[in-house]
Amino acid sequence: MASERDVEAIQQGVRQKYAAVAEGVAGRFAYTTGRAGAEVLGYDADHLVAAPEPLFDAYCGVGNPFALGEIRPGESVLDVGCGGGLDLFVAARLVGPGGRVCGIDLTPEMAARARTNLAAAGIGHAEVRVAAAKAIPYPDGRFDVVTSNGLLNLSPRKEAVFRELHRVLRPGGRLHLADICLADGVPSVDTCSIDAWSQ
Ligand SMILES: C[S@@+](CC[C@H](N)C(=O)[O-])C[C@H]1O[C@@H](n2cnc3c(N)ncnc32)[C@H](O)[C@@H]1O
Repeated sequence: MASERDVEAIQQGVRQKYAAVAEGVAGRFAYTTGRAGAEVLGYDADHLVAAPEPLFDAYCGVGNPFALGEIRPGESVLDVGCGGGLDLFVAARLVGPGGRVCGIDLTPEMAARARTNLAAAGIGHAEVRVAAAKAIPYPDGRFDVVTSNGLLNLSPRKEAVFRELHRVLRPGGRLHLADICLADGVPSVDTCSIDAWSQ
């Protein structure tokens, strides 16, 4: 298991990488990102048409958390590792003004970007905080749904993150998790590389 010093070094590397991504995602990943990425991943076209362009500028999701189950009007949703806010925007449209969407992100620049993007998109029932997934700043049982898109693979404390995701869900709440899984193990050279942790 990684030491606390390793964890801090990995998170620092992740913050640096995503602070740069918050400035613009183009050319920063080996997979398709931005608007084309959301289209490839099969997001509902109605949401993509409604989304203002800046919501795509930092979009680097690895899956479509909304393909995993329904999100209903009036529900409360937490997006963990919310990036520039595209998934919060979609969740906000699904829950409607009677619902609530909250996002957390480790990277202050990403959280700032999400706030700006959501305000510009006219979304008033959303909030975004800077926080790590291993210590989510919300009470037990607060949310009907937790979404996450490309967060777990970046986290060296996966068990702690899963405990937190479970803790903030109400009994019977749903987890819509999109992430990267490897069929084979990770080469040890990569687990020792800060760059490999933040790809
Ligand atoms: C692959 S990006 C995906 C962002 C967003 N979900 C999207 O679809 O565009 C991962 C995001 O998770 C954030 N992140 C990474 N590790 C985190 C952690 N331990 N806790 C909270 N956020 C984290 C990064 O700052 C980044 O914005």
